[in-house]
Amino acid sequence: MTDDANSMWGGRFAAGPDAIMEAINASIGFDQRMAAQDIAGSRAHAAMLAAVGIISDNDAEAIREGLLTVLSEIETGTFAFKTELEDIHMNVEARLKELIGEPAGRLHTGRSRNDQVALDFRLWVRDQCDATVGALGALQSALVGQAEVGAEWVMPGFTHLQTAQPVTWGHHMMAYVEMLARDVSRFSDARARMNECPLGTAALAGTSFPIDREMTARDLGFDRPSANSLDAVADRDFALEFLSSASICAMHLSRLAEELVIWSSAQFRFVMLSDRFSTGSSIMPQKKNPDAAELVRAKIGRILGATVGLFTVMKGLPLTYSKDMQEDKEQVFDAADNLMLALAAMEGMVRDMSANPEALRAAASSGFSTATDLADWLVREAGLPFRDAHHVTGRLVALAEAEGKDLPDLTLDQMKSANAAIAEGVFEVLGVDNSVASRTSYGGTAPDQVRAQVALWKERLA
Ligand code: ARG
Repeated sequence: MTDDANSMWGGRFAAGPDAIMEAINASIGFDQRMAAQDIAGSRAHAAMLAAVGIISDNDAEAIREGLLTVLSEIETGTFAFKTELEDIHMNVEARLKELIGEPAGRLHTGRSRNDQVALDFRLWVRDQCDATVGALGALQSALVGQAEVGAEWVMPGFTHLQTAQPVTWGHHMMAYVEMLARDVSRFSDARARMNECPLGTAALAGTSFPIDREMTARDLGFDRPSANSLDAVADRDFALEFLSSASICAMHLSRLAEELVIWSSAQFRFVMLSDRFSTGSSIMPQKKNPDAAELVRAKIGRILGATVGLFTVMKGLPLTYSKDMQEDKEQVFDAADNLMLALAAMEGMVRDMSANPEALRAAASSGFSTATDLADWLVREAGLPFRDAHHVTGRLVALAEAEGKDLPDLTLDQMKSANAAIAEGVFEVLGVDNSVASRTSYGGTAPDQVRAQVALWKERLA
């Protein structure tokens, strides 16, 4: 075999590849990240081949031990990856042959690199779904911690980044807990859907060997073997689902990151980020920059880019495997790594940051934030239709604005000038604490509601 142009498939080739051909063809530079998955797949395959009598128990045992040696060489960094061996599958098999000789050549019975790569990549993405769900849980816990500390701290709730109504700090933190919970469920759904084993579908058509696909599926933790061999080697929708979930998650992180950037500015002073997650300026000594938040805000760029990238690679590909599909991995690896980094950085920032309740309250008390409470009072206590109440309140806001005051600073007579039915009791609803305390509808911002949600989530995340 050594005389062949390629020890894996050189039988029909007279000459080796051009150097450029080798360079564009090789994936070992990046798919070595799937070494553990590749070896797990080969071990399951060899055990199955022996169990059904396709290879001898002795050969299976030699393969098993050889693969363990290869794995430890890779883990300890002594394995010599070779570009001329193209990818992780052929690198592992070639080394196995050096180690155990002839039985190594029997490992590839009843499978192909097409189902092998579909398997390895699925296993890798499946692991990554689990890791991401874990990191999301840690960030949720950090947010719940913040919500618990400031369940009743009043802050402005915004629409259009204009003061809208007072809300509580705890409620704002818990909003992200809910968003991240949907991210968790997206990764979990994707994982459940991808959990079918492609191993044994071989090149594209299945195999004539009496293999046991139920056995390998079970050994590798899959729910079942995939039911159509063409589909199993041809689709990468599992990676696209992972990337789509990652993109939505990165979008959520980007919004929280943006809020941290705004809130930590000298103009807002809503939060102080810790030194551990900030940087200084080389020229302006007073600066403390929210670099980690800015980078988390930006990560959506490459993660969504990877998603668009893989969609573009896959679109229009005829069934089944085409080498285009080798371009599926790098972007997924990059997106996965950067999402994990962003989640860890966000968790650290959220855990470490301290909110400033005085600044939050001062901001909540300005900008006529209780105007809706005034309109609601007019409906409830004076029997006005809401539209009229809205109008009366609008006139009072204009009056207060003209006088450079906020609503609670107007006199009762000034109030009455807009509507005679207004009475002393109105001032009770104009305070921000009363405002938030009154929002007791399910899902509302009242501190009691927030505390109930915090308790629920602490239990769920425990
Ligand atoms: N390195 C290849 C990939 O990542 C493995 C599959 C190769 N299959 C083939 N028929 N050339 O897609």
